[in-house]
Amino acid sequence: MWDDLKTAAAKAQDIRTLDLFAKDTTRASEFSLTALDMLFDYSKTQIDAASRDVLLDLARTADVETRRDAMFAGEKINETEGRAVLHTALRNLDGGAVLVDGVDVMPEVLTTLDRMQTVAEEVRASTITDVLNIGIGGSDLGPAMAYLALSPYCNGPRCHFVSNVDGADIADTLRGCDPETTLFIVASKTFTTIETMTNARTARAWLQDHDVSTDGRFIALSSNADAAAEWGIPPERVLGFEDWVGGRYSMWGPIGLSLMIAIGPDGFKAFLRGGQAMDRHFRAAALHENMPVLLALVGIWHNQGLGHATRAVLPYDNRLSRLPAYLQQLEMESNGKSVAMDGASLPVQSGPVVWGEPGTNGQHAFYQLIHQGTRVVPCEFIMAAEGHESDLRHHHELLIANCLAQSEALMRGRSLDEARKRMSDKGLTGDELERQARHRVFAGNRPSTTLMIPKLTPEVLGQIIALYEHRVFVEGVILGINSFDQWGVELGKELATSLGPLVSGDASADDKDASTRQLLDFVHRFS
Ligand code: F6P
Repeated sequence: MWDDLKTAAAKAQDIRTLDLFAKDTTRASEFSLTALDMLFDYSKTQIDAASRDVLLDLARTADVETRRDAMFAGEKINETEGRAVLHTALRNLDGGAVLVDGVDVMPEVLTTLDRMQTVAEEVRASTITDVLNIGIGGSDLGPAMAYLALSPYCNGPRCHFVSNVDGADIADTLRGCDPETTLFIVASKTFTTIETMTNARTARAWLQDHDVSTDGRFIALSSNADAAAEWGIPPERVLGFEDWVGGRYSMWGPIGLSLMIAIGPDGFKAFLRGGQAMDRHFRAAALHENMPVLLALVGIWHNQGLGHATRAVLPYDNRLSRLPAYLQQLEMESNGKSVAMDGASLPVQSGPVVWGEPGTNGQHAFYQLIHQGTRVVPCEFIMAAEGHESDLRHHHELLIANCLAQSEALMRGRSLDEARKRMSDKGLTGDELERQARHRVFAGNRPSTTLMIPKLTPEVLGQIIALYEHRVFVEGVILGINSFDQWGVELGKELATSLGPLVSGDASADDKDASTRQLLDFVHRFS
């Protein structure tokens, strides 16, 4: 199936996207899609009708629809861990039964949601001024990203997100908090993650150092209630979730508690409703009209087809500044794998390197490479038609103009002749004109997509996040990999554990490689 993609991609090398627009006046609408509150425009790519058919065939051959239905039906599609994948149940507010091993999980999901609501309301009505979510990876990035994204809706206590085991993170955060009015949320699915447990112990010591009782100051969000109890958090202060919720897919349930405290239960439910609406679209829409499927196929086209190894996520929304980091985990932990579900090596590249920063800041930093570097970086722009600062409408208009300008410039480019004319207009001639002109050429034909949203509300954020989750799923199905395990993080964790005593000088480094010994020597000399 990959041969057809390679053939189509090889043909596309000669396609100029501008020519596609010239030939087909309907291209903009033909190569874009509206679903729910969003417009996804992929017309500024080299995808034409023929290559889109090849891509849709890939989805059909990989049986995306069957795999999708298996996921929603609670089948154990996370085969290497023997687990179902049902984060969608967490936002299935009124969608009926969801069975895992023949048992409907929805009563428990809804009870937990009610408990979250009770806790959130209590905290919002209390004297708590600061909430510290201590977690890392999926137990941090989702709520941290959404807290920032939805700041216009935040009307509860301040929330902070401490993740790094670097003591600087918690020390800097605690400096701004009052021990009498700070609540700690220990967010860890496993309740064993070394960074989180270390930060949680430091938080507890901080309260004790200030002679403040730790009673009622900790809430645990975890699948491991026993470990939380052993740590000292009683069951009534633990909000649990099952192993069929993967860490990076967990912000819809208890891991989202900090967000619920910040924006209130109604706002949080609106976020869930947005996610649920995208689930419904994903389940019902035909492949060619299915937004997550099309996002995935455009990604496959650029990465596995044309060989572009990275994807830049460029939200023209300052409040989405943590979205690229969130998507890095979602995409790279899910689809950064070299073997297929059956253990065979992948015949193509794994998922892309995802990176990015909000525009317009990126324009004044790394866009130089995107426009004129030797590598092509497919760009994914995200833009809201309306901002929240109605009194600063002129800012938002500038923001939109910049976003549109970038995708146009990437596609259009500037030819050598155009650059020569500019230099000539400036009075340059001869060799100097030629030399200066060459620096001002833009190859153009650089692909981008744009996701337009009306306004960044809780509901729309839910749609966006569920859209990306399902895109990652579809990419994974087409690649034939398990998007729901993360064995690649294990080796480093094991080595870090064994290196601890070597760093503290309590064990010999003799059996380590020469480079590691040298680095340890440096630490010991200066610490
Ligand atoms: O190390 C990777 C990872 O397991 C992620 O998948 C997860 O989101 C993160 O660590 C945190 O895990 P936990 O919620 O169990 O502390």
